[in-house]
Amino acid sequence: MLLRLPGVYPPQQDTWLLADVLADEKLGSGTRLLDLCTGTGALSVRAADCGAGHVTAIDISRRALATAWVNSRLHGHRVRVLRGDLTAPVRDELFDVVVSNPPYVPAHGDTLPTRGSARAWDAGTDGRLLLDQICVQAPEVLATGGVLLLAQSALNGVAKTWSMLEEQGLSVEVAAQVDIPFGRVLSARAELFEARGLIRPGERTEGLLVLRATK
Ligand SMILES: C[S@@+](CC[C@H](N)C(=O)[O-])C[C@H]1O[C@@H](n2cnc3c(N)ncnc32)[C@H](O)[C@@H]1O
Repeated sequence: MLLRLPGVYPPQQDTWLLADVLADEKLGSGTRLLDLCTGTGALSVRAADCGAGHVTAIDISRRALATAWVNSRLHGHRVRVLRGDLTAPVRDELFDVVVSNPPYVPAHGDTLPTRGSARAWDAGTDGRLLLDQICVQAPEVLATGGVLLLAQSALNGVAKTWSMLEEQGLSVEVAAQVDIPFGRVLSARAELFEARGLIRPGERTEGLLVLRATK
């Protein structure tokens, strides 16, 4: 069970798809794992449950971090929680695994929200404002042989993520993929997505993916 303060992203299909991929990784007492955009800490808790010995969780939201800390303690783990913008708080460190389920929903404009629930999903017009930064920053904090597990929607353009990570010298594969019906946020933007040609008229399902990239 995970507690959740109001406004913190409730774990959902993307969280659990990524958590299942994470559970397939070899995690041990020496594993240094970074959970970028931790929310409730669901992925940090799963990593620690699976044996990862050194788990660090980062989020920009104080509420999310408080929630993640409480959840890690409730599950008997000591997760280090750090507030900041993506990898900024750990720029001088290296990790064996970086896991991230960032905001990736295409929005009306390119101004990111600075507060409120939408900060958990809005990611600019193409939904890539955070993804593009992660594609650059995550490889910089990965140890050689380390693995990035990154969730995104097919709406964001998987090829762009793939090529950005390859440009950083990582080798990329699709670790998991599933089609799910639009939830509340995407349903409200369906006409916008149709107008932009992101979906076919009447299409109301989204492809979720987890990319696995090895350094
Ligand atoms: C889609 S939620 C994912 C939460 C959780 N990892 C999960 O899978 O359930 C994205 C999270 O990213 C956080 N976030 C948004 N912008 C961020 C940034 N620039 N740096 C770090 N975290 C950020 C939000 O506060 C939110 O908790």
